[in-house]
Amino acid sequence: MTTPLTVVIFGASGDLAARKLIPALYNLARKNRLPAEAKIVGVARSAFTDDAFRARMKEAVAAHKEQWDEGVWDRFAKQLYYVAADITGDGGPGPLKAWFDANEGPAGGRRLYYFSVKPELYPDLSAALGDAGFSQEHGGFRRVIVEKPFGHDLETGKALNAALHRHWKEEQLYRIDHYLGKETVQNILVFRFANTLFEPLWNYQYIDHVQITVAETVTVGERLAYYDTSGVIRDMIQSHLLQVMTLVAMESPVRYTADTLRNEKMKVLDSIPVPTVEEAEHLVSVGQYAGYRQELAKLKAKLTAAGKHDEAAAINPESKTPTYAAVRLTVENGRWKNVPFYIRSGKGMTKRYSEIMIQFRCPPHLMFPLPKGEVLQCNRMTLVLQPNEGITLNFQTKVPDTDGTKLSPRDLSFDYRDGYGDKPLPEAYERMLLDAIQGDASLFLRSDEIERAWEIMDPIIAACERAAAADPEEYAIGSHGPAGADQFLLSEGRKWQPIG
Ligand code: BG6
Repeated sequence: MTTPLTVVIFGASGDLAARKLIPALYNLARKNRLPAEAKIVGVARSAFTDDAFRARMKEAVAAHKEQWDEGVWDRFAKQLYYVAADITGDGGPGPLKAWFDANEGPAGGRRLYYFSVKPELYPDLSAALGDAGFSQEHGGFRRVIVEKPFGHDLETGKALNAALHRHWKEEQLYRIDHYLGKETVQNILVFRFANTLFEPLWNYQYIDHVQITVAETVTVGERLAYYDTSGVIRDMIQSHLLQVMTLVAMESPVRYTADTLRNEKMKVLDSIPVPTVEEAEHLVSVGQYAGYRQELAKLKAKLTAAGKHDEAAAINPESKTPTYAAVRLTVENGRWKNVPFYIRSGKGMTKRYSEIMIQFRCPPHLMFPLPKGEVLQCNRMTLVLQPNEGITLNFQTKVPDTDGTKLSPRDLSFDYRDGYGDKPLPEAYERMLLDAIQGDASLFLRSDEIERAWEIMDPIIAACERAAAADPEEYAIGSHGPAGADQFLLSEGRKWQPIG
């Protein structure tokens, strides 16, 4: 008999479960990748029955029309259950224990716990499960998936790791950075290490600098109360962009296993010097989109009108939280000596667009005379992570029917959709959930990575906060970001690649 397998989603009445987790598990079922014996148990305080929970989730899954299949849903719905419990409050894990006793049997089973609750609850949830003996492997594994944010700075990041380690071994912890679940982010490794062509050029001798961009059109919207305490550096750069940067900069792991991969990423993080706050002031440029403070003022008024005075009091409509940041980092090792990595991210920008741009050096000598005032656009390679996933190499060509010295840059392009058909690329959560079920932690973050990422970012955040005594520069919604960020790069003799 197969050992029972249960995916327990804590916080199942929340947004993430409906928007991402259940649709991802449904898709795994649709592709016959979810083990048939798997049961998915939603846990939250609200009093749902199994059927009410199924009906709610059906709506969420059916919203993705291109993936909808009534037959698959009927099969999948039978694997869905709901347990009403206030695990960290009155009643504790008792109702869940009763569910396990009834469904797993005395031989125990395999369990994947998903913490889809407010991050403030992670330590208490972890302790409640640990104290109930739920971390002890009986009949199969016990694994925990934890969502970011992993703390607010180095100190709280360390405290969270310590709180988790009190009840779980590091091998049981699967910390998600959903950027690592994106196909095109994983493709960075294939592109670099399954080809011979690029790796010999992938170093300071041929690369002038690297730009990593994650631009979003969305504004902060519903998440203002959280976002305003976080800002773009904590929300995007300390996590997603720094992770992408490690994949661009790392050495080839000897094999594709969780620890060999994460050891190499960790070496990159270790090679990024931690600046002092004074040094950091010269490494970062921040902005805030126009209208951000008005959004805060509206939220404050709404909370006040609803009688939520404590929450309203916590909102500062004069907030200086950045919604855009560009940061300059270096990797002090033999491969990357003096090659700056410029990483930027912003909300309310002109396009939803993420890319890695590798700017190669110019030829050491150019025999072609350039028209006065023109500079040669030297080779660039762009890996587009979203939305039109692909790879472009930009190089010089001779303009036809002109004398031999007229040059113009053109693109050599690979488009994922042309290469693999128009099938949508799977959502990051599909890969992550399946990997966690199968025990492959390669795409999850280890505690040392998190702590080092905070160590690097803390002084940069402090420098921004110091600089924010002066207001962050405002940029228009729908723009390319603040003019100061352009100036930041121009002062280093470089330019941003236009977004999109
Ligand atoms: C999340 C951030 O981690 O990533 C959000 O908290 C951001 O602020 C989101 O919008 C971006 O993810 P994606 O997959 O839409 O690029």
